[in-house]
Formats: sequence, C-alpha cells, structure tokens
Amino acid sequence: MDIRYLEKDRIFLIETDNTAYIMGIVDEEGFLGHFYYGDKIDPEDSSYILSLIEPKYTPSENKRDRSSFLDRFPFEYPGTNVGDYRNTGLEIEDSNGNGSVMLCYESHRIFRGKNGIEGLPATFGNEQDSITLEISLIDKIVGIRAVISYSIFEGIDAIVRSVKFENLSDDAIYLKKVMTMSFDMENEDYQLLTLHGSWARERMMDFRSIGYGDTLVESFRGESSHQFQPFMALVQNGDSQDSGKVYGFSFVYSGNFQAGVCRSQFDSLRLYMGICEKNFCWKLDPGKDFMAPEVIMNYSSCGLGKMTRTFHDLFRNHLIRSLYKDKERPVLINNWEATYFDFDSDKLISIAKEAKKCGIEMLVMDDGWFGKRNDDNTSLGDWYVNEDKIKGGLKKLVEEINAIGLKFGIWMEPEMISPASELYEKHPDWAIQVPGREPCRSRNQLVLDITREEVFEYVYGRIKDIISSANIEYLKWDMNRQLSDLGSTGLGKDRQGELSHRYVLAVYALQERLVKDFPNLLLENCSGGGARFDAGMLYYSPQIWCSDDADAIERLKIQEGTSLIYPLSTMGAHVSDCPNHTVGRTTPFKTRGDVALSGTFGYELDVTRISEDDRKAIPGQIDNYHKYNELVRNGDYYRLASYRHNHEYDAWEAVDKDGKRALVTYVQVIATPNGKNKIIRPAGLIDKLLYEIWMDDRYIGAAKGKTLENAGISVPVRQGDYHSVLIYLVAKE
Ligand code: DGJ
Repeated sequence: MDIRYLEKDRIFLIETDNTAYIMGIVDEEGFLGHFYYGDKIDPEDSSYILSLIEPKYTPSENKRDRSSFLDRFPFEYPGTNVGDYRNTGLEIEDSNGNGSVMLCYESHRIFRGKNGIEGLPATFGNEQDSITLEISLIDKIVGIRAVISYSIFEGIDAIVRSVKFENLSDDAIYLKKVMTMSFDMENEDYQLLTLHGSWARERMMDFRSIGYGDTLVESFRGESSHQFQPFMALVQNGDSQDSGKVYGFSFVYSGNFQAGVCRSQFDSLRLYMGICEKNFCWKLDPGKDFMAPEVIMNYSSCGLGKMTRTFHDLFRNHLIRSLYKDKERPVLINNWEATYFDFDSDKLISIAKEAKKCGIEMLVMDDGWFGKRNDDNTSLGDWYVNEDKIKGGLKKLVEEINAIGLKFGIWMEPEMISPASELYEKHPDWAIQVPGREPCRSRNQLVLDITREEVFEYVYGRIKDIISSANIEYLKWDMNRQLSDLGSTGLGKDRQGELSHRYVLAVYALQERLVKDFPNLLLENCSGGGARFDAGMLYYSPQIWCSDDADAIERLKIQEGTSLIYPLSTMGAHVSDCPNHTVGRTTPFKTRGDVALSGTFGYELDVTRISEDDRKAIPGQIDNYHKYNELVRNGDYYRLASYRHNHEYDAWEAVDKDGKRALVTYVQVIATPNGKNKIIRPAGLIDKLLYEIWMDDRYIGAAKGKTLENAGISVPVRQGDYHSVLIYLVAKE
C-alpha cells in the first residue's frame, strides 16, 4: 500500500494491495478531479490517465465554455451553484444569504497512521499499518475550507474517506448539505444494490437499474433504520460472488443518511453518500469545524464475495474496539420471548437453573424490570428496580444467578421516556417536541432530548448506577422508536436543524463514556430488532441484535443481507421457540441452532417449558458453538448458494484464515418432489491439503482442497422442509 503525490502531473495516487484511486489537480484554479478507481495500474501511466479527461478549461486561454467544463468535470468534491448541475456535495448559505460555493485545491499532506474523529466513530490505524492523505480545498470568497482525508490499511482493499469543514470567515455559515463522499465514474451497465427492510425483516437485498437522474436510499428517521441500510454498491454482474466489478460503500454513521447515484445527461454517474440533507442544517460559527462521518469505499474486481471479505476484515481489525471482538461471547439466554413483561425473580431463577443444566452461560433480563413496567405503556426513564418483581433488588437477584453459575446481563432503553413515568411528571420538557404540538407517540413513548446536558447527565447517571449496582457483565442497549417532532428547548431557533445530528452525537457520547467506564462490559446494541445495525454502532459494541425475527428461515435472508457487509461475529442471533412468535412457522430445533451458530449464538425461549427433546439438544448445540465459534468469528466468509435465487436451499461458509478448517452451513428450505442431491462447492481451501469431510458428525470421506472446490460436496436431498446440515472440513495433519 502507498499514497503518493506525483508533482510533475499534480496527481495523487492511492494504492492498496490490489486497487488504485487516482485524483489530479487541473487548471490554474486548481480543480480537484477524480480520474480512476479500479484495479491497480502502472503509476508511470499517470500522465496518460490525465489525458483521458475532456478538454480543459483554462481561463487565460479561454478555449472552452466554462459551464460545459464544470458540468462534466469529475469533481472530487462538488460545490453548488457555480455551473456544475449534477448532485452537490456541499450546500451552504453564507451571511449574505448566498449559496454558491466552489472548492479548489489549496494544499495537502501525507502521513503514516490515521487520526480519529472527535465525537464520531471512526476506523483506526497506527503508523505501521495505515497511511493518510489530507487534501485541503478552499473557497476564498465564502471563506470555507474543506479538508478531505483518505486512509488505507495494510492488506485491505478499501479506502476510508471523511471531510472536515472550517469556517474561515467572520460570520456564521449554514451548512445545508454535507456529503462525505462524492465520486464520479463512467456508467458501464452497473446495477445499484441496496438493502431495504422493515421491522422483523431487515436488510433484504434489492438490485435495480440506474436510470437518468437520482436513484437513492435514505433515512431521516433519526437512526440508520429498518427501512434502508447506510450502504450501496454498484455491481456489474448481479449478485455474482466471484465475478464482475463491484464498488461498495458503507457509511460509518448511525443517524440520517443519504446514499445514491445520479446518472447525468452524458451518461456518467455521480455517487454520493453522507448525512441526509432532510432535517439537517448546521450553523458553523467563525473559527469552528464540522466533521462529517466516514465513508468506506471498497472496490472488488471479482464480485460481491471479495467486497464482503474486505468489509469484514476492515471492521474486525480497524473499527470494532471491544475486548470481546476476539473472544468467544458467553452463550446467553434472554427472557424476552420467554416471558415478555410477565416475569419476576422466581421465574428468572427457574429459567437460570434449567439453563445452567444445559450449559448456558449467561442470563439476560430483558424489558420490564423497572418502574411500573408491566407492558409497553409506561416507565421508560424510571430506571429504578421494581422490587415487586425483582424481590430484594437487583444485587440479590444477580448474586443468586451468579450462585447458580451464570453470568448476568440486563436490558435498558436509555434514550426514551414514557409519558406515563415519574420522569415525565417531573420533566415533561425533556422529551423532543415542537412547542405547541402534541408529539407523535410510537410504542407509547417519546424520545429524550439527550442533546441537553442535564438530560444527558441524568441518563448516563442512571445507566452507571444500574451497571455498578451489581455484577452486571452485559448490557443490551435498545431503542424502540424513531425520531419525530424535531424540536429542542436546548437549541436556539437558528440551530434546530442540528438536532438530528446532535442526537446521534449524544448517543455516541453516552456509549463512549460507558465503554470507557466499564471496559469489561459486553455491550450489545439493538433497535427494535436491527434498526441501528450499522458501522457506527460497531465502534462501541462488538455485536448488534440483528432482528426481532428469530425464525430460522426468515433469518436466512436477514443474515445474508447483514453478512454482505458485517462480520458474522457482530450479528446477534438466538434460537427461539416455535411456532415462531413473528411468523408462526415451526422449524426443527437443529435448524434454529445451526442458523444461530453463524452469529453471536444464544437462546430466546423459556427453557423450562420447551420439549424434552429440544432441551436435550441444547448441550450439543453449545458444544458446536465452542467448536466452531473461532472459525465463525475470525474466518473468511463465502456465500455458496442463496435461497433467494434457487428457491430451495441456502449455503454459506466460514473458512479459517489459514484455510485449514471450514464450516459450511446448508439449509434445505423447501423439499422438492423427486428432487436430487445438491452439489455445494466450498471456497478458500488450500489446493493440496487433504480435508476430512464431516456432515453433522458423520465422517463422509476425504478429498484435496482443489477437488472439493471444483467437484463439490453432494448434500443428500431429504423429505420435509427446513432441514439443516453442518459440513465441517478439517485438513489432515
Ligand atoms: C425490541 C428488542 O429487539 C427485543 O429484543 C426486546 O428487547 C424488546 N425491544 C423489549 O422491549
């Protein structure tokens, strides 16, 4: 990897192991353009690359119409209102009410290492494993500077990009739109891949063709959302795992976002990603900075599989900080689907005792232990133990659970307030709301204005007190509604447009304090299932609850979409009861266990009330977890077959980095009459090594890596739906 500035041609060259990103400064005004992103090419050819751009605009020679130049030039960071009519990067309003802005080259620096971003999640690197380029662009008329930064990491084919704005003028400048990334490229028959969803069916893959004008996904719900994921990819070959060019982009942010592509009249594409311009307006005072969150750019010349593995490696090595990243997480049992709100300490203790006998390692007490909360109408904000339910208090309960031999974890939803709560009685103004308008309730609750210092301190104080009050080793941090009625009494009328972003910054600040104060706490983020499953949250928690739908078959699609970007080690996945509470489907206990193995693994059921057969299966599932978790957590991920296409079966694989062990999970979703065996071709093996092949503990035979990858493994067709097989490949010594 390397980053260089080629002085003669005024070219910046960013090279990862297999990719190159090339920008150049052109013309007297110093327009910064983007000329190439793709497979590595010879840097000696940089003058040639420059010659590819259309005729230049040279004011002194005045050979070309300026607007024609500006409307085609591949700007690295486009401004507004100056002759480029494509999608804008930055939109402003200066003190005169004007909105024109044009950012041109000022200076640059290249250094080893990578800086963090104060208050925001960010990838990290050190002087040995990363290099950064910062380019300053300036608009001297407005008095604004943009510092765009690009970082690369050893062994990873991705570029992390962010932008900072500095107000150099004497007056406030309003930032009305800030994209972190703008990226122009030729249209070569790409499709746009995004992930859409809803509650209980998050991150479904969606491919569409790119028409003229804008095609985009966005959230202005105050969180990254169930509905769209802060991700997009341009793909050449549909969802081929190993062929075709793919440009993937992920936003390291948990709030409102926009990700899209604009196809111009000249058939070029402008891709963009950043904070959603809706509900955003930031007043930047003189001398102040505004930092936009990072975007990860990930180019693969060989399909989606390589893009996925690059994201996984980057997130595991340069984003997730938790101690637990490299550790097996305790096998937990969560009482939500077991009891919902109807529990007390006796019930929890009976679950814990039975769970212990099965080999489960932690009990998590979910929603309903505080205030007067016996349903979802009440008590959010009153983070005091309900001793009618938890007799003798939290400390006593935790001691009892620990004495049984289980660790203890707890659920909280710190960002929320129930109108029926003591907190609301005391501080009705603490809820986000617009004066004079009754705020919209969702799940009967309102959102606390944690951008206000006293609210922030109250919330953090309650979390800290609860976590410190007993031996609590895990926290599930939930958020069960989206933002509306954006109004803050803590912000002046000139700053109301800052609320959504400030809200996310406050969530980050709360979690930053939490992980600093409690470095050994295992934090799991959650948002009504998986509405805040994004790279931003992974900076604070090594795992996120994937979805409230734990049905093994629905999970195939949810976990496929999630694993497209995020490592398996981050995906909260549990075995739940049947008929499934979300879809009413009954699936074999084994299949539920096998599918959950490709995530953090745990149970979400009343272990005292399931069938004896299911209960007896738990120790074997936990043995599998201990046997395979290292592989699942750290290995390379390959998608081998998708039920979305074939409508019959699904298969994916985790392979050790040294290629010596692999676990293939196969699910026969729907049985076909008169069907035939399925051939599954594993990947990532070592050609010459001889592998033992095991199917659910049955030894099948042995074959070389090359043979297995080419000829495949035949998985017997069975009668009945929803059957799974674990295929374990292990190299003989
Ligand atoms: C939504 C979560 O996704 C569930 O797992 C559960 O914790 C509930 N909230 C509790 O209210």
